Amino acid sequence: MIIASNFKTNHTRESTKEFLNTLNTFVKENHIKDDILVFPTATSLDNFNLSSNISIGAQNAYHVEKGSFTGEIGTEQLDEFGIKTILIGHSERRDVLKESNDSIEKKYNFYKELGYKIVFCIGEPLEVRESGLQEVLAYNFAQLENIDINYENLIIAYEPVWAIGTGLTASLKQIDETLNGLRKSIKAPLLYGGSVKVANTKEILEIENCDGILVGTASWKVEDFSQMCRIASEL
Ligand code: PGA
Repeated sequence: MIIASNFKTNHTRESTKEFLNTLNTFVKENHIKDDILVFPTATSLDNFNLSSNISIGAQNAYHVEKGSFTGEIGTEQLDEFGIKTILIGHSERRDVLKESNDSIEKKYNFYKELGYKIVFCIGEPLEVRESGLQEVLAYNFAQLENIDINYENLIIAYEPVWAIGTGLTASLKQIDETLNGLRKSIKAPLLYGGSVKVANTKEILEIENCDGILVGTASWKVEDFSQMCRIASEL
């Protein structure tokens, strides 16, 4: 199982360190072996002394080593901390920050060339969900159209936009049907994201083609995220 926490614009350098120390102790004490990914803010990236199954990733970085790209970071800044994991295509970056498909593709190809583990997010808006499963699958596959879905270090996170940060989780049937549809053409691990909480972690992880979860809001409390990791380890 892959259990991922996206901090978004939450936690400070200090509280990130505390979070990771607590999580690391919990993972060791409970002999959790699942893959755990944590995406802190760029300002909280650092060298942490963590169990080998806990990786730190960047929520975003530009497709460059270094240069004149105000407000961005590149691989020079990621290399300082040995970071080799990145989130690409999150709906908040697509919709709120207006990241274009072209930029997403460039990032994907750049970080793929460098061998990064890429968590690539896809997901439909509510109006597409309301038009039915075929439309949902077509929309999600279209978001994958220009990226190499056979890349060995790719993880795909299916995150319906209407379920992100809204407290509205997709139903188990909706998650199941969508992941089944994606699985027909995709070998990469498939995560579900969108209002995952401790209370629904088990039932979501039990879905046949679900290889893990990507969690925002409910993961920011280390006690809750730790419980999600424990639940995954017991399946
Ligand atoms: P959420 O966010 O858990 O707060 O819905 C999920 C995500 O954006 O990855």
